[in-house]
Amino acid sequence: MSFQIAIDGPVAAGKGTVAKLLAKRLNFLYVDTGATYRVAALLAKQAGIDWTNDDEVAACVDKAQIDMHNPSDAESDGRQTTVLVDGADVSWAIRTEDMGKGASAVAKLGKVRQVLVKKQQDIAASQDVVMEGRDITYKVLPNAQLKIYLTANEEKRAHRRHQELLVRGEDVEYETVLSDLKARDKQDSERAIDPLQIVEDAWVLDTSNLTIEQVVDQIEAKVNQLR
Ligand code: DC
Repeated sequence: MSFQIAIDGPVAAGKGTVAKLLAKRLNFLYVDTGATYRVAALLAKQAGIDWTNDDEVAACVDKAQIDMHNPSDAESDGRQTTVLVDGADVSWAIRTEDMGKGASAVAKLGKVRQVLVKKQQDIAASQDVVMEGRDITYKVLPNAQLKIYLTANEEKRAHRRHQELLVRGEDVEYETVLSDLKARDKQDSERAIDPLQIVEDAWVLDTSNLTIEQVVDQIEAKVNQLR
């Protein structure tokens, strides 16, 4: 059986950066499941489908071929992962604040979640993975050998997210980022289907006062113990 590391946590907890580095060190595949919800939001928007229409968004996503891989040298432009939809590179198109909001909206829809969870499980079935999202520890990979709930305080997370957006040229106020983050946390943890939660067997890792390297070192040590 493949070795599975499942990481859940709130917006901007550093899940992407940590999972990506960890996967690189361990030579595992890195899977960003949030990207699949962002793809759903993008496809719906392009097709003129409302982000609340479960049947139509699910049908549209079901038809799409979503592929993810570690960026090649030619693609190394700061992205964490390359995301292709029917062969088209949407890696950056899905990273806007608008698609973040859309992703949080379509993530509330039951049929959309069913379609995406199946696609995510298929990816993890045959290879060692570090997969991150909101429902990985209890829904997508309930039998993962290591389950982590990665978090940090709101101000730290908003600050990190703000910096990321500024670097990317998105002109946005810190206060706006903080209030969007609180709204998304609320939406993600209070939604009726598969809300963000801390499972009993998860290792809760608060990264507020740790560097990325320290976090990755701690997780790597744990993986080595388990293997
Ligand atoms: O991690 P992110 O910001 O790219 O995620 C976008 C949205 O997708 C987020 O608001 C919650 C949702 N999501 C989810 O419901 N389940 C997942 N496994 C991953 C993300």
